[in-house]
Amino acid sequence: MKITVVGAGAVGATCADNIARRELAEEVVLLDIKEGLSEGKGLDMLQASTLLDCDVKITGSSNNYELTANSDVVVITSGIPRKPGMTREDLIGTNANIVKGVTENILKHSPDAIFVIISNPMDTMTYLALKSSGLPKNRIIGLGGILDSARFKTYLSLALKCSPNDLQGVVIGGHGDTTMIPLTRLATYSGVPVSQFLDAETLQKVAADTMVGGATLTKLIGTSAWYAPGAAGAALVESIVRDQKRVIPCCVLLEGEYGQSDICLGVPVVIGRNGWESIVDFDLNEDEQAAFNKSADAVRNMNDILKTLDL
Ligand code: 2OP
Repeated sequence: MKITVVGAGAVGATCADNIARRELAEEVVLLDIKEGLSEGKGLDMLQASTLLDCDVKITGSSNNYELTANSDVVVITSGIPRKPGMTREDLIGTNANIVKGVTENILKHSPDAIFVIISNPMDTMTYLALKSSGLPKNRIIGLGGILDSARFKTYLSLALKCSPNDLQGVVIGGHGDTTMIPLTRLATYSGVPVSQFLDAETLQKVAADTMVGGATLTKLIGTSAWYAPGAAGAALVESIVRDQKRVIPCCVLLEGEYGQSDICLGVPVVIGRNGWESIVDFDLNEDEQAAFNKSADAVRNMNDILKTLDL
């Protein structure tokens, strides 16, 4: 198995490092446009491998796409991260050209790859990658919900003072501070609805904290987070390369599911060796569906901006 991560910034490098440590591939290629950056970080990871008992070929590439040839999975993290006070959507003007160019360059060398899109605004970048690549919809997967769900479970675990590993919690909709939908009604603690342990006010705060989970970290750190995004990327890649058939909330093309069409948005999907395989219907209630439709409207407005850019 060969996996390429494009973008050797904090998220991309962390994702590549997680993939290597978990030995999800025989070869990991880390590519960046900045001369030397991916070579240096790749060599650093190799040196860590001697201490972590993992054995993966790691190659750094300064914008040489030939080194990415025949990748099975490609994770795109390239583009600028947000700064405090910015929304993910503010990045569209810069990142759209980058993501389109990267997608095209990767496809020249890896026509059969499955794409995982992390670059922001992720829902729109996923839609752009799908449309510009012309690939079958199942091979374009946007990463948002799995990360937001990790934050949702973290805030739930803090409120419940329990292990996050005893929690089930899913976030659907857009990967935006106002577009994501933590499904508090369906969240469980050891199989029991969390509403049996937390009052409505606490659950509302957990949902609100989840929605701005990324922005909270950006405010504290001064740039986008990377540990959880990188680990989320590796977890998604693992379900692909090991054909785990996990149900993971991901941004995928909807063609009528959840009442939406011609949009890439976060829904629960089965992830296996061929990419996303099917969409799972969580049978949303009226309020949840209304929130999903509102989220779709906001993402669709962002997608419309693509038409105004010189791509
Ligand atoms: C985040 O939420 C980078 O969008 C990513 O941290």
